[in-house]
Amino acid sequence: MTSARSSGPALAVVGATGAVGTVLLQMLSLRADVWGEIRLIASARSAGRMLAVRAEETEVFALTEDAFDGFGVGDVALFLTPADVSARWAPVVAARGTVVVDQSDAFREDPEVPLVVPEINAHAARMRPRGIVAAPDTVTAAMIASLGALHAEYGLAELAVSTYQAASAAGRAGTETLRRQLSLVAGTSLGEQPGDVRAAVGEDTGPFAAPLALNVVPWSGELREDGWSSHELAVRAQTRRILQLDRLPVAVTCVQVPVLTGNSLTVRARFENVVDAVHAREILDTAPGVVLVDDPAAGEFPTPADAAGTDPAWVGRVRASLDDPHSLEFFVCADNLRKGAALNATQIAELITGEFA
Ligand SMILES: NC(=O)c1ccc[n+]([C@@H]2O[C@H](COP(=O)([O-])OP(=O)(O)OC[C@H]3O[C@@H](n4cnc5c(N)ncnc54)[C@H](OP(=O)(O)O)[C@@H]3O)[C@@H](O)[C@H]2O)c1
Repeated sequence: MTSARSSGPALAVVGATGAVGTVLLQMLSLRADVWGEIRLIASARSAGRMLAVRAEETEVFALTEDAFDGFGVGDVALFLTPADVSARWAPVVAARGTVVVDQSDAFREDPEVPLVVPEINAHAARMRPRGIVAAPDTVTAAMIASLGALHAEYGLAELAVSTYQAASAAGRAGTETLRRQLSLVAGTSLGEQPGDVRAAVGEDTGPFAAPLALNVVPWSGELREDGWSSHELAVRAQTRRILQLDRLPVAVTCVQVPVLTGNSLTVRARFENVVDAVHAREILDTAPGVVLVDDPAAGEFPTPADAAGTDPAWVGRVRASLDDPHSLEFFVCADNLRKGAALNATQIAELITGEFA
C-alpha cells in the first residue's frame, strides 16, 4: 500500500527508514501537500515495514527497478541513501525521466549535476543534463545562506571554518553509537584519567574515529593528501561551487562533538569590502533561511539544543574582527537532519515539481 492522493506528481523517498528519511516523512505531513502518490523505498532489510506518512500507514518497498513502476516524467525521487547506493540507482531512475534529488556525496562534484541550496541558487536546479540534482552536506548547508547574504553585500574573499558536528550527521549508526557510549559513561568519574573513556566504551567506536562520549574528535571523513580529511575538502569544494567562487581560499577543520542533533560552526569570513557588524546583523536578520539570535548580554546566542527540530540556520555572536576591518566572526547552528538534509531536499523537490505545474 502506498500513500496516494488523486492528483499531483509522484514522490519516491528512497532511504525512507534512515535518520534523514524519518525526519523527511514527518516533514511531508506538515508541508503543503503537493504530491500525489508517495512511495517509500529502502533496502531489502526493510521491505514490508509500515511507516506513517501523511497520517497513513504506508508500506516500504525494497529498492529494485520494479519499485519505480509507474514513475516517469514530472515525478521526483529523493535519494537519502549511502553514496554507493545513490551512485548505482540514481541514474537508473533518472533514465525514466523522473528527476532525482540526491542527498549523498555521490554527485556533488559532478559538473553535470547541479548542487543546489534553494535560498542561494534555485535557478541552478533547472540545468540538470543527467536528470539528477545534488544537495550539499550538512556543514555547507548550515552556513551557506548566511554566507551568501553577506557575500552579496561585501564580496566574500576568504573563509575559515571550524565545525562542531552532531552524532546524527553520521546517520542512525552515529546516534546509536553516541547513545550507547553515553549510557556507559553516565554517572561515573570517567574522563579524568588518560584512556579511561576508551576502556569504558570499548573498541567499537561506530562511525567515529575515537570515543565520542565525554570527548571531541577532530576527524570526519577519510584521509586525503597532506592531512586533510575528505569532509574538509568537500566543504571547501561545495562552498566554492554554490557561491560560484572557484578560487575562494577556504580552510575547514571538522570536529565531531557529543551532541545528538544540530551542527554548529565558527565562521571567520574575510570580505573584499570593509564590514560593518551592525549592518551585517541587519543583513543576516532578513536573509532567507536564517534567524539571527545575537544578544549575549541577555544570554542569547544559538545552540544546537535550540536549533534541533527547527528549519532555519541560527546565527549569532556576530563580531567585527579586532584586527582586520574586512573580517567578520560569527557562530551558526542548524539541525543537520533538516536544513542539512531533509528540508533542503524537500525544497529542491518542490522547486522541480513547480516547473511541471
Ligand atoms: N544524517 C545527516 O545529518 C545527513 C545530512 C546530509 C546528508 N546525509 C546523507 O544522506 C544519506 C542518508 O543519511 P542518513 O543519515 O539518513 O543514513 P542512515 O540513517 O544510515 O539511513 C540510510 C538509509 O538508506 C537505506 N539503505 C542503505 N543501504 C541500502 C541499499 N543497499 N538499498 C536501498 N536502501 C539502502 C537504509 O535502509 P535500511 O533501513 O533498509 O537499511 C536507510 O533508509 C547519506 O548519503 C548521508 O551521507 C545525511
